[in-house]
Amino acid sequence: MSSLDSALIAIERACGSGSVIRDPSLLESYSHDDSEALPCMPEAVVRATSTADVSAVMKAAYAHEVPVTPRGGGTGRVGGAVPVPGGIVLAFEKMNAVEGIDKGELTTRVQPGVITGELKRVTEEENLYYPPDPNSLDSCAIGGNLAANAGGPRAFKYGVTREYVMGMDVVLADGTILKLGRETKKGVTGYDLTSLMVGSEGTLGIVTEATLRLIPKPEATVTALACFSSLDEVAPVVSSLMAQGQLPACIELLDEEAIRIVRPEAGLTIPNETKAILLIELDGEEARLEGELERMGNILFDLDALEVLVAQHSGERERLWASRRELSYSLKRQAANKLSEDVVVPRTKMADLLGYCAELGDRHSLLIPTYGHAGDGNLHVNFLWNDPDEKARVDLAIEALFRRVIELRGTLSGEHGIGILKAPYLPMEQSPALIALQEKIKDVFDPKHILNPGKIFPADAKRFHGAC
Ligand code: LAC
Ligand code: ZN
Repeated sequence: MSSLDSALIAIERACGSGSVIRDPSLLESYSHDDSEALPCMPEAVVRATSTADVSAVMKAAYAHEVPVTPRGGGTGRVGGAVPVPGGIVLAFEKMNAVEGIDKGELTTRVQPGVITGELKRVTEEENLYYPPDPNSLDSCAIGGNLAANAGGPRAFKYGVTREYVMGMDVVLADGTILKLGRETKKGVTGYDLTSLMVGSEGTLGIVTEATLRLIPKPEATVTALACFSSLDEVAPVVSSLMAQGQLPACIELLDEEAIRIVRPEAGLTIPNETKAILLIELDGEEARLEGELERMGNILFDLDALEVLVAQHSGERERLWASRRELSYSLKRQAANKLSEDVVVPRTKMADLLGYCAELGDRHSLLIPTYGHAGDGNLHVNFLWNDPDEKARVDLAIEALFRRVIELRGTLSGEHGIGILKAPYLPMEQSPALIALQEKIKDVFDPKHILNPGKIFPADAKRFHGAC
């Protein structure tokens, strides 16, 4: 009997009959995520129902050296949930309970399969707020958000997922169950392994429950579109808003191509000469918002905004956001191929980055629509092409983009992670010594390299996925 079969028998015995799925028609949807990473069929999928299940799966996988790829909503953008040949996918859609909301402590206890938008909805019903808002929030899961340290538009004011994680139950590669972090607001006991786990892309341990911090729900929200006649105008606007003490909930950039896509959906009359938009949202006390909006409007008009359009009711607001959230998918439909990068520069360097993207487009004759979280200097730079022969030019342009981002003291990923697709570029940002140190950490947590292999590290990505 193969070691895979032995592992699957042990898993089925521990987790119950029917827990191991091997029907190829069901396995297909677990072979890919929402990225351009090449799919890989898993040998089996296990839908966990408890921490004990996850521990049993890992004990069996460890004993028989079978690779395991944990999977949340499968909405990742860099191949982080794509399994490796001969591997098992550990799926969390059945562990989707919000186990409790503690209004006195401002915390919630959740399982990893909870859909992020659902968590936001149930906490808002209690007048509380879980701010992280990745644009895939209707289908992504908290487990994946923890793995990728997900961000989103409102990270600008409220910070990313890591800032809301207090503690977690984690299953290690050998099945050991650990409690990390704490239930208290403060705490400095031992190393901060909770933070290490967040953003580790499922390569160090599997989160089976988490305690998340909540904040009071903002009383009211105003959404505005500031329209500009040139992309060159928006970077100075972001810096000026910051310098003048403005703290909107988000400042999102739409470039000309993004505007072309959003315009028919947006429900607001965007002036024809608009070449760039900043989607700005203010939130807070209702009584103060009108004054804040007026101050913000004055600043925007001083900085040559053509128009500042304000959504008049929640329907208009929702329409705007629906088209913004769809952008990444809408862009994908514009060409046969798309690669989307997720670079960040210090926000004062955003003009350089935008200028460089335009230069790259001209130099390599490519369409490079760019949009994203301007307030954080975190832009999604998209490369679209139809002819397969263009791919070599795209690769050159992407490498040049990354080089410039590093020169500008930026980073290669703001919110999507490294996964498979970015692994070849890791050495552009991190020194050999830093990569080696992280590989040693990986060895400590996962000595047999069975936990989501082939991610983050260039050598692993090449070995398991043929990347690089
Ligand atoms: C967005 C996703 C792609 O911001 O991060 O639309
Ligand atoms: Zn984004």
